[in-house]
Amino acid sequence: MTASPPLLAPEATARARAPLASAATLPPQAYRDPAIFAAERACLFASAWLPLARLDQIPEPGDYIAMDLMDQPVLVVHGMDGEIRVLSNVCLHRAAPLAEPGPGHRRLFSCPYHAWSYDTEGQLIRAPLMDGADHFDTRNCRLPQLRSEIWQGFILATLDETAAPFAPQVTGFTDYVAPYRLDDMAIARTLDFPGHWNWKVLVENFMEAYHHIATHSATLEPVFHARDSHIPDNDGQPWSILHMPAADVSGPHPEGTLPGLTDAQAHDLLATVLFPHFLLGIQGNGAVWYQLLPRAHDEVDLRIHVLLPRSTVPPEAWDETADAVAALVTVIHEEDIAANNLVWQGLTAPLTTQGRLSPLEKSIWQMNQWWLTRMGL
Ligand code: FES
Ligand SMILES: [Fe+2]
Repeated sequence: MTASPPLLAPEATARARAPLASAATLPPQAYRDPAIFAAERACLFASAWLPLARLDQIPEPGDYIAMDLMDQPVLVVHGMDGEIRVLSNVCLHRAAPLAEPGPGHRRLFSCPYHAWSYDTEGQLIRAPLMDGADHFDTRNCRLPQLRSEIWQGFILATLDETAAPFAPQVTGFTDYVAPYRLDDMAIARTLDFPGHWNWKVLVENFMEAYHHIATHSATLEPVFHARDSHIPDNDGQPWSILHMPAADVSGPHPEGTLPGLTDAQAHDLLATVLFPHFLLGIQGNGAVWYQLLPRAHDEVDLRIHVLLPRSTVPPEAWDETADAVAALVTVIHEEDIAANNLVWQGLTAPLTTQGRLSPLEKSIWQMNQWWLTRMGL
């Protein structure tokens, strides 16, 4: 029996593994090979803590959001008992999903197929016409519950029973962003953008400011110069922070800025990733959450959530502020879509090889080291 060849050539992984000053990108196959995507699902996504929703999306008992966590339909539920749970959204009878994707409010989840009904804790309450089924007791039937964690107002879950808890893995990150009070924020707008590229193209684009000089030359570069961006060491923890200092921090703090921030904190922009693809852009008066749903090696759905601080944006200014941020985010993201389209065009060309990274792209390098290790490469 012969061993199967490695997914990537050892010479290619060695070039990506080199110290930042001499490192290359991942090779094109890492993005365009469906076998790599299948391996990512098994090695990265199946064991990752992935952000599903915000607490502010399900504030009341009975509120829920139905969605897919890879192939597993789930219900993120605010139980009538006050607990937040992530439950399997698959009926215990003959496997019909209980609720269609999207938000809602229910006291009971009644299956559309044969009307088995579950409470918001996942307990089967009613199963009609089951008389005569031996040893069947609804009290012994409960929807499987995934491990979940609340961090900074986000509800994360994992399919991995043995995954280490999330928060202790990202302590350096949590400390860095603590002044921005992410747990005080709430989703004010959500924008959907399907993308026809590999998910890593989007993450890499999000995590470097080098492209401000061309892609965003008229929008971001005048405010956040590419050359000033810097990226702290992550001490081997699974995250990266791109810090983009504002060119001018002398003016008044922008509207809605949290109290107690320094002039730099009030004006600078952070782009951050918790590996593999939990993306947050953070400023002193709000944040954006880029929720990625990788569908295939060449397809990733993106949901951009605009978050505003509840303590500094008054209700009467909420909609106007949200619309203004959403409009700005759309302009920037449309510039990024054009860049991602270009990259995908080139990555799928047969003569394309690994490129050299700029030291300004340290986040990509940090992510690649984590990716290679987790992929066993
Ligand atoms: S599949 Fe749900 S009640 Fe039959
Ligand atoms: Fe960009």
